[in-house]
Amino acid sequence: MGTTVAPNAVAAVSEARQWDRLMELAALGAITGADGSPGVNRQALTPLDRLARRLVIGWGAAIGLTASVDALGNLFLRHEGTQPDAAPVLSGSHMDSQPAGGRFDGIWGVVAALEAVQALREAGVSTRRPIEVVAWTNEEGSRFAPGCMGSMAYAGHSAPDTWDAVTDGEGLRFGDELRALLASEADLPRRGLGVVEGQAPFAYVEAHIEQGPILEDEGIDIGVVTGIQGSRWFLVELTGESAHAGTSPVSTRRDAVQDMVRAITALNQLMEDPADVLRFTVARIEVAPNSSNSVAETVRFTIDFRHPDAAVLIARGDAIEATIRAAVRNCGVAVTERFHALPVQFAPEVTGAVERAAAAQGLRAKRMPSGAFHDAQFMVPLCPSGMIFIPSRRGISHNPAEYSSAAQLARGTRVLAQVLAELANG
Ligand code: GLV
Ligand code: MN
Ligand code: MN
Repeated sequence: MGTTVAPNAVAAVSEARQWDRLMELAALGAITGADGSPGVNRQALTPLDRLARRLVIGWGAAIGLTASVDALGNLFLRHEGTQPDAAPVLSGSHMDSQPAGGRFDGIWGVVAALEAVQALREAGVSTRRPIEVVAWTNEEGSRFAPGCMGSMAYAGHSAPDTWDAVTDGEGLRFGDELRALLASEADLPRRGLGVVEGQAPFAYVEAHIEQGPILEDEGIDIGVVTGIQGSRWFLVELTGESAHAGTSPVSTRRDAVQDMVRAITALNQLMEDPADVLRFTVARIEVAPNSSNSVAETVRFTIDFRHPDAAVLIARGDAIEATIRAAVRNCGVAVTERFHALPVQFAPEVTGAVERAAAAQGLRAKRMPSGAFHDAQFMVPLCPSGMIFIPSRRGISHNPAEYSSAAQLARGTRVLAQVLAELANG
């Protein structure tokens, strides 16, 4: 990108338009948190998700972007390059939310990419390469586990039918819900999944809220994301036997809740980390029959385990099943790994471009890793990839209280516009 044209595009980024779009999207699935904060529950492949996608498709169409959708429901809005056959630069994130989520996680990355492209076009900046705004399907993994299904399938990390039989809390299958989404978007051109006609993207850049407290605490505008720690998800199923709470002697019970307590206690020991770098979370528990006076017959609980060091991620993750088996006394045990994402490092081409753009705009930037996983993780093997973070108030995320100001969001989008302009002319 020549230094002569980028400033026009940067100046054309509209803080108000971006904020208004985020608020219009936040109305789709609006919820109120325990503290009264305005959050969002718009999970993957729901009717609300479809409505949100229609809004974004409409905004793209209004400025001349061409929409297409692939077999996983990943949505692309294409800004044509002066050399249409050149490998495109991709930028986006996800539009689905947590069940009690905020208004910015994921969706800002999609809206920011759209805003950056709109700014380029309004400033009359053409790019040699096409730029594609992308919304990846089911990044959160809260309705259908795991997360990042769309980007994993796109990247060839997993076969596209891997998750067809995964069910949500109501027993609806991912494959069926995906087919329903695609049927509702049959008016859009269907594109091949993944690297289309052998053409990998030239680069991938994802804008995202930090979801942690560092940028705010240190008064920094822009996080230059250097990489993402690794994550592994497991589903643990313990099978015992239901019994009458008043009559069955404790010594004869096969109580799935008691074995779950033993398992989690042992896992907490396995996952001890005096440095407090390791992240170990059990946050979803289903008990059946879930009745206060019936001994629990089955328990299903989730494990979310993360670490930046692949060796630790592999060694402790691989020890999970044996730890559980050694700890339970009376129940059958089944452990299924549902997500395995190794740590990644982002490319200097992208981190450098983000640093240059922040410096050119007089913004304070800091290199930092990501504790959250992101679709960008799966783009790393395909092309130079990276991310831009902006501050999150008090580091709160996956919570309706998640907040970043319109000005903070706009700063991130201005950096993104400059980065996209540079990469798309590279
Ligand atoms: C993404 O939502 C994550 O859990 O890191
Ligand atoms: Mn996210
Ligand atoms: Mn999230």
